[in-house]
Amino acid sequence: MRIGINGLGRIGRGFLKTIWEDPRLQVTALNDVAEGAVLAHLLRHDSYYGPWDTPVTAVPEGISVGGRTMPLYHCASPSDIPWEEWGVEWVVEATGKFKSRRALEGHRCNVLLTASSQEADRQVVFGVNHESILPGELLLSATSCTTHCVVPPLWVLHERFGARSVLFNTVHCYNVGQTLVDAPQKDLRRARAGALNIIPTTTSASLALEAVLPELKGRIRGMAVRVPAPAVSLTEITLQVERTASPEAVTDCLQEAADGGLKGILALSREELVSQDFLASTASSTVDLPLLQVQEDLVRLIAWYDNEWGYVHRLVDLLAYLEGRQT
Ligand SMILES: NC(=O)c1ccc[n+]([C@@H]2O[C@H](COP(=O)([O-])OP(=O)(O)OC[C@H]3O[C@@H](n4cnc5c(N)ncnc54)[C@H](OP(=O)(O)O)[C@@H]3O)[C@@H](O)[C@H]2O)c1
Repeated sequence: MRIGINGLGRIGRGFLKTIWEDPRLQVTALNDVAEGAVLAHLLRHDSYYGPWDTPVTAVPEGISVGGRTMPLYHCASPSDIPWEEWGVEWVVEATGKFKSRRALEGHRCNVLLTASSQEADRQVVFGVNHESILPGELLLSATSCTTHCVVPPLWVLHERFGARSVLFNTVHCYNVGQTLVDAPQKDLRRARAGALNIIPTTTSASLALEAVLPELKGRIRGMAVRVPAPAVSLTEITLQVERTASPEAVTDCLQEAADGGLKGILALSREELVSQDFLASTASSTVDLPLLQVQEDLVRLIAWYDNEWGYVHRLVDLLAYLEGRQT
């Protein structure tokens, strides 16, 4: 499968590094508004994950990674990027700027959007609903990192105990959607310095969760609290369940899923850990078992996630799955 990346930011670069190891998939063209020399530098050096051991340089034709050169375009609009010259079949749209069907159709090829969008043909959480993608669904949303954290354990517990009502709160590291210093933004709390404040705000995950688990429509509500940590987040998920639950029964069914159909996606942690311990975790969601609480019909879980690294691995898993389905 020949892939293009639009937007070499946190997600675009992490995706490129992850996919580089996969022989089934090949990135053949890149687009970002930034200069090649700057992007090559940011690929070589990363404040969270350290240096990339694959050599990267900016060359006149684009960016050379491990001796292979990919063209780099600087088009601000998807409709101007000449993906067809490079045989691109799927574009990973990771600018954060384009979410409407109209804008995404500008790419003129299949699109995997790295954000939630109600206008996508399907919102996909790999491991849970990827097998329901229909052959004609060619504008896919990979939802959000928080959706990938909440859905796997919620799905498992809903199947076993029945979720009557769900509340979640993601305690999320700051990201590019916030500001370093106080600066105007529509969301007045996000307008405040991200590395200084605990910032209650919204999350796009609520709507995406309902799209992925439609049987829970109208029964899920969520919020986010952005905190002064640069990487790794956690979500607190509280379910009101229909059938009797106990800590042992909850642990057993999560363990079964983590060892079975959700292997590599849902993980369990039994140690008393903190956020840095989950840096570069490739799981979508790691349930912290010592923090599990069950009281009457309420079950409360805490699940950790590296909001970048786990997510980019699922993007690669999804494209590899689609590639396998074609052949
Ligand atoms: N970060 C996370 O944890 C995370 C997790 C899951 C999903 N996502 C989603 O992934 C998307 C990207 O997030 P991110 O954190 O990677 O953001 P980011 O670091 O800001 O990356 C976006 C990149 O796209 C470039 N860009 C901006 N406008 C462009 C345009 N018109 N054409 C081409 N390139 C353009 C940006 O350049 P400039 O910097 O010069 O503007 C930047 O290099 C967002 O939708 C976000 O919600 C993020």
